Amino acid sequence: MERGDLERAAQLLRRGEVVALPTETVYGLGANALDAAAVGKIFAAKGRPQDNPLIVHICQLDQLSGLVQQVPPLAQRLARAFWPGPLTMVMKKSGAVPDEVSAGLDTVAVRFPAHPVARALIELAAVPIAAPSANASGRPSTTTAQHVLEDLDGKIAAVVDGGSCGVGVESTVVDVTGDKLRLLRPGGITLEQLRQAAGEVEVDAALRRQLGRDETPRSPGMKYKHYAPRAPVTAVCGAPRRSYAYLCRHARPGQGLLCFSEWEGALREQFPDCVVISYGPGADHAAQARQLFDALRRFDETPVAAILAQCPEEDGLGLAVANRLKKAAGFTLVQAGGEEGEKA
Ligand code: TXA
Ligand code: MG
Repeated sequence: MERGDLERAAQLLRRGEVVALPTETVYGLGANALDAAAVGKIFAAKGRPQDNPLIVHICQLDQLSGLVQQVPPLAQRLARAFWPGPLTMVMKKSGAVPDEVSAGLDTVAVRFPAHPVARALIELAAVPIAAPSANASGRPSTTTAQHVLEDLDGKIAAVVDGGSCGVGVESTVVDVTGDKLRLLRPGGITLEQLRQAAGEVEVDAALRRQLGRDETPRSPGMKYKHYAPRAPVTAVCGAPRRSYAYLCRHARPGQGLLCFSEWEGALREQFPDCVVISYGPGADHAAQARQLFDALRRFDETPVAAILAQCPEEDGLGLAVANRLKKAAGFTLVQAGGEEGEKA
């Protein structure tokens, strides 16, 4: 990364343009968070629904106080534990944050990313940067500059290339406005880590299941179909051995099989007429997180009519990976059983 590229990108941001930038989680599509017109261009480039608020990214802790009414003690504790890093905190917003950023809510989501390029760019731009994930709305998030160009070339001013993202799934979003910490979206900081730092954590129902028609999620983004490749996905849950056995029983020619790497060879051999793509070992949730979005995107380069996907168990980062996969499936899930059979 040339310093000149970063300076040019910062200049574009200061002029009210949108620029894609690497973070440790996924690529973001950034604009000056204090400039409503610039923020409007993010929604236009992504085709993002106007009621889905954006995360504001900072590069120093002292930028936080200008964005929020107050920093609750819980937020201070979490900032000490996890910032800079893949944690986003929702707080009561100050008057400085345009309604376009918060989508009319009285709160704002703030994150202090760890990626050195993101931090350097925000510092050079000298303004907080509003940035959703840099994908076309509804598509899998982007973890390389190439992914960003696939979705947004011609619609944005520039992409800053920082290589592949290290975490690969988005930040964990928590609400710190109440007495108790509430998890709105699982991500790079695990539920176990949050519990260790903050005690009890309430988990939003929208994380594990589809909400009913009359239910409103606390995080507007959780209600949208998201992360979806073109072919419909079925997420196969359960212990990896069982989900593998399910794939063996149900795979049909012309389908895509998204599997853990230990079974890639066997599935290729057994199903030569399927497209088999793996995304890390069954027990390595960090590897799965890094590879999931790329794997989902790769199916779009193939003619598969449907995808059966092994879904990881939900410990550690597995909760975030499983959440993204279930959303990619539009919550079409099966529970892989043993001899007892499967449940839809
Ligand atoms: O890792 C990440 O968080 C990436 C990188 C670029 O930082 N960004 C990201 O942004 O994933 P986005 O827009 O794709 O997801 C933001 C999520 C959405 O689900 C949105 O609804 C939620 O955060 N959110 C934003 N502001 C909120 C608020 N005030 N209250 C509740 N949820 C909010
Ligand atoms: Mg997103």
